[in-house]
Amino acid sequence: MSKKVTKAVIPAAGFGTRFLPVTKSVCKEMLPIVDKPTIQYIVEEAVAAGIRDILIVTGKSKKILEDYFDSAPELESLLEREGKEEFLQICRSTEKLANIHYIRQSHATGFADAILLAQTFTGGDPFAILLGDDIIYTPKGERAGIGQLIDVYAETGKPAVAVMEVSDADIPKYANIKGTQTGDHTVSIEQIVEKPAVCEKFSNRAVIGRYVVESDIYDIIRTTPPSQSGEVYFTDALGALAKQDRLVGCLFTGKRYDAGNKLEYLEANIEYALRDPSLGDGMRSYIKSLAKKLENRE
Ligand code: G1P
Repeated sequence: MSKKVTKAVIPAAGFGTRFLPVTKSVCKEMLPIVDKPTIQYIVEEAVAAGIRDILIVTGKSKKILEDYFDSAPELESLLEREGKEEFLQICRSTEKLANIHYIRQSHATGFADAILLAQTFTGGDPFAILLGDDIIYTPKGERAGIGQLIDVYAETGKPAVAVMEVSDADIPKYANIKGTQTGDHTVSIEQIVEKPAVCEKFSNRAVIGRYVVESDIYDIIRTTPPSQSGEVYFTDALGALAKQDRLVGCLFTGKRYDAGNKLEYLEANIEYALRDPSLGDGMRSYIKSLAKKLENRE
């Protein structure tokens, strides 16, 4: 039987160049969707799936992340003195989410290299990996995105990756798989390739940034040859698992946003605001009146 997955790794060392200029001094993981930074959605998804220990792989100028999940004594005592109980609770809530650990990636050497830094943290345990640019919304009461992969891992005993159908235009953005559907939500993966050109795609199934792997991934990464750019691709390490018939794709349910893309990031903000009970009505009537104005102009 597979071991329970209680640990997760979140690589967060990237520069966020697609969001310049704001990312000159605010790291992209702190950009908010409505009122919470994107990294909090990732942490909450992991926690909702039963994960208790999270390692965030940070880099230079990411101290703000550690501060965010820490206590804020000055602000808390001010809120306490002023009797602002509701704000006090909101402020304190981020430090109690999970046991969050940090390690720094000293050089921008990529995703696979960031994962190697997690070895001491995960030891021999299986673990989840969540990429911060992918936000997965699931309605209350439904299994969190990474939770669905944990279930697939528990059922099959094989490492799992999140898989989603994409259009041809999006093929070059993601790892692409060749596989056979084995159940309602599972695909047995035979081959996987990092960001192919459309003419080289295996299928229209792309890998989204959620993974459950075992501790043998470290040796696999170390023995995976680097790509032409000199970087060892995590996807190539997964390819070694696929070759051994040990990789399953999970056709997850839920709405996924690419928070690393400006348009989808804005869409996420609008949709989360629409779902928010305190903002939904206002947002809906604003969008309606804006749509009317735009129509009249055309
Ligand atoms: C990374 C991975 C890629 C995966 C994608 C999912 O790419 O390298 O295999 O499909 O995340 O979002 P990135 O978006 O960091 O360029």
